[in-house]
Amino acid sequence: MRVAVFNGPNLNLLGIREPEIYGTTTLAEIEARLEEVGAELGVTLLFSQFNDEGRMLDAIHNCRGVVDACLVNAGAWTHTSLALRDAFAGVQLPYVEVHLSNIYAREPERRHSWLAPGAIAIVAGFGADGYELALRGLVKAIHVRRS
Ligand code: DQA
Repeated sequence: MRVAVFNGPNLNLLGIREPEIYGTTTLAEIEARLEEVGAELGVTLLFSQFNDEGRMLDAIHNCRGVVDACLVNAGAWTHTSLALRDAFAGVQLPYVEVHLSNIYAREPERRHSWLAPGAIAIVAGFGADGYELALRGLVKAIHVRRS
């Protein structure tokens, strides 16, 4: 199985960015942990991070036929971009949405996700560990869908 892991804007700053909210784990450390979990599960991971929404849309389109599913933290675009959900729907890629923080316990503008209606599941509030939990859940859900 192949899974694309997408991170949206400002997530390249993890480690130094508002550590009281997002913790001190860097994106490189999160990806290294996911590599370990991927190896355990027999899953090949493709990592990318974007500060340009158009480039992320192109990357989702380019995943068509290349990966089986996606893990996505769309950062602030979660709350603004119907286009991202449309991109996943357009190329028929199942995805799990992940957030470090519990967006539903934060400011009102963060409590709506445009991605959520199209997601298999959402993991939010477990910090960096959420990525591992989301990957394990995603892989299990894909296996179940195929059995
Ligand atoms: C985030 C939550 C978003 O509201 C925020 O804009 C982010 C990170 C999270 O992982 O908690 O960039 O997606």
